[in-house]
Amino acid sequence: MTRLDAAQSGSFAIGGDLEVNRLGFGAMRITGQGIWGPPEDPQEAKATLRRLPEIGVNFIDTAESYGPYISEELIGEVLAPYDKGTIVATKSGLTRTGPDVWPPLGRPEFLRQGAILSLRRLKVEVIDLWQLHRIDAKVPSADQFGEIAKLQQEGIIRHAGLSEVSVAQIKEAQQYFKVATVQNHYNFANRQSEEVLEYCEANGIGFIPWYPLAGGKLVEGNPQTRAIIEKHGASASQIALAWLLKRSPVMLPIPGTGKVKHLEDNVAAASIQLSDEDYATLDAVGKGK
Ligand SMILES: NC(=O)c1ccc[n+]([C@@H]2O[C@H](COP(=O)([O-])OP(=O)(O)OC[C@H]3O[C@@H](n4cnc5c(N)ncnc54)[C@H](OP(=O)(O)O)[C@@H]3O)[C@@H](O)[C@H]2O)c1
Repeated sequence: MTRLDAAQSGSFAIGGDLEVNRLGFGAMRITGQGIWGPPEDPQEAKATLRRLPEIGVNFIDTAESYGPYISEELIGEVLAPYDKGTIVATKSGLTRTGPDVWPPLGRPEFLRQGAILSLRRLKVEVIDLWQLHRIDAKVPSADQFGEIAKLQQEGIIRHAGLSEVSVAQIKEAQQYFKVATVQNHYNFANRQSEEVLEYCEANGIGFIPWYPLAGGKLVEGNPQTRAIIEKHGASASQIALAWLLKRSPVMLPIPGTGKVKHLEDNVAAASIQLSDEDYATLDAVGKGK
């Protein structure tokens, strides 16, 4: 494997002006089991964060609900003041009432509190990218989207994004603010958001696939794709990431880990160049699942 540098994944300008290397980092895994409490090995989690700027990762995804607060606090503690060009995206809109439990709450005052307290924990004056973690079905969407527009007008957040949404929901939100990114469950083996990805591509919206490594199992288990893994001397997860990066120029994968070695393995995927033929083979296997 060659040079370890996320810049090899190419770049994307979030909201048209915040240029990041496309292969980013998901900071959900620097917390305890059930995304609750501190990580099992805090020193390793901090070392993982410290390694990010050294290997060109300048797009970090977190949320106030990760821990809760632990992920944002660790990022602020280890990385602030941030290297120029580092973008920390966060989210609000979910409460935490226990491990693995995430009841949505989209009331405007809660979203506002989320953004304001994220500023404090991340040690920034403006949140470069703030995402609504879930649209709350119990709260009128106009209230949620209207509050996001206000936070943007007031300069508390710079760009705004959505998570787990349909094309219709993106279009509705666009009546209130410019949707800079969409973060949906998507990977090699889970293609339910294909239509949303196509909409993002057509509209210059960054698409952040969560659970990006999950496709690795399918890549590994299939005889056709095994040959591709062997040819590249890579792991199945790395091939799943390389496939994502080739899938679309608006794709911003954020593999998550609390371990330096795993981070390095993931970033190494940025240097894998899949041929069109390999890509097509992988694509057919992923779709045929
Ligand atoms: N918007 C949403 O609703 C939503 C939902 C879920 C996640 N997310 C975001 O998306 C990011 C990615 O999703 P994810 O963390 O669920 O899934 P993922 O990145 O596909 O996989 C993470 C899992 O794989 C392990 N792992 C990572 N790199 C590895 C490697 N090189 N070798 C072996 N194991 C490895 C991690 O454990 P170790 O820590 O042991 O490495 C962790 O258990 C999250 O961090 C979060 O920022 C968003």
